[in-house]
Amino acid sequence: MADKDKSSPQTAPKSGPTRAVTAEIGTDVPFKAVTPPLYMTSTYNWLGFEQKGPYDYGRTVNPNRAGLASALCDLEGGAGGVVTASGMAAIDLVFNLFQADDLIVAPHDCYGGTHRLLTHRALQGRLRVEFVDQGDEAALSAALALKPKLVLIETPSNPLMRIIDVRAICKQAHAAGAKVICDNTFLSPARMQPIALGCDIVVHSTTKYINGHSDVVGGVAIAKDSETAEQLAWWANCCGLTGSPFDSYQTLRGLRTLYARMDIQEAHAVQLAKFLQNHPKVAHVYYPGLASDPGYKLMQAQQSGPGAMLSFELKGNKDSVGRFLASLKLYQLAASLGGIESLICHPATMTHRGMSDEAMEIAGIKESLIRISVGMEQISDQIADLETAFSET
Ligand SMILES: Cc1ncc(COP(=O)(O)O)c(C=O)c1O
Repeated sequence: MADKDKSSPQTAPKSGPTRAVTAEIGTDVPFKAVTPPLYMTSTYNWLGFEQKGPYDYGRTVNPNRAGLASALCDLEGGAGGVVTASGMAAIDLVFNLFQADDLIVAPHDCYGGTHRLLTHRALQGRLRVEFVDQGDEAALSAALALKPKLVLIETPSNPLMRIIDVRAICKQAHAAGAKVICDNTFLSPARMQPIALGCDIVVHSTTKYINGHSDVVGGVAIAKDSETAEQLAWWANCCGLTGSPFDSYQTLRGLRTLYARMDIQEAHAVQLAKFLQNHPKVAHVYYPGLASDPGYKLMQAQQSGPGAMLSFELKGNKDSVGRFLASLKLYQLAASLGGIESLICHPATMTHRGMSDEAMEIAGIKESLIRISVGMEQISDQIADLETAFSET
């Protein structure tokens, strides 16, 4: 069979699912392997004296990491990016671009680990931070009046699934002289492309939907412009934040099915949200895919679907939550999200325990709140598991 002619003109831009499935496929030169091989090497031969090849040292560059970065930049519409050892490493990498007295404005209800990192970096005097409710226009305007250098956004927020207007915040932040970084972990490029909405940098915990199988911890930081991408690469090498070849290989493998996984998991989440909304033991459901959700309209304006994360408040106290979680058989009681299996967690004592009680109260995270990362198990089995747990609560 004739080799694919890579120089033939493109008739139409390929869709996201096609680009994810075919990323790096058929690019192996030495052996013509369809699937790109794994390069487990820490160092590379130089071409000769004073002649460095394209790859020299594993912390700086690796073909698997480069392939994954290029696939993710393509899907996010970025100029360049760095694959890191974790999502937190990607977020901390971006903070390296700022000076000690630069102000960062972050959501008051951001991921607990990000909240902890910002709080402790600020305590060290390595940056300044202002946590605000970014859905409150007056509070956001007041924070922007302080002339921050960076605005961090997370939408939908974790764990309350609040949606903020990305286009509007980018406009306001840029007018105030700040760059905007979006943590797109909850949606993935399959549901939102923050750079197209005006953001300067996108980060992911690729541990979640991008890898999708709960067997790798990783991250990525992607910049809209190549100058910022180069700075990110410089700092990643300088601090040794880059991801491993094996993790990159696995993550690219997972990425191929991202769109298909998201379609199924999201369809399940919609059904689950409706089931929970009508359940007598549920006080409130947080899911922007419900028409009654305050974020529904904005979700439609900036996302191509609501995603597969939802939260709900159980009627009762902390003991009821404990009994409910202990009664589940199918759902795994675990932090993290975005894998094909359903995970359930109690944010107050698990994902967000790094936040102080006061910060948690301000963010609206109650003891009765439960978060679900909706998986691919048959939806009737998921509902049956929840129904049994409700009846035993
Ligand atoms: C929204 C969000 N951002 C960042 C992270 C951190 O990612 P990692 O655990 O890969 O360091 C998480 C982890 O749960 C997350 O949920």
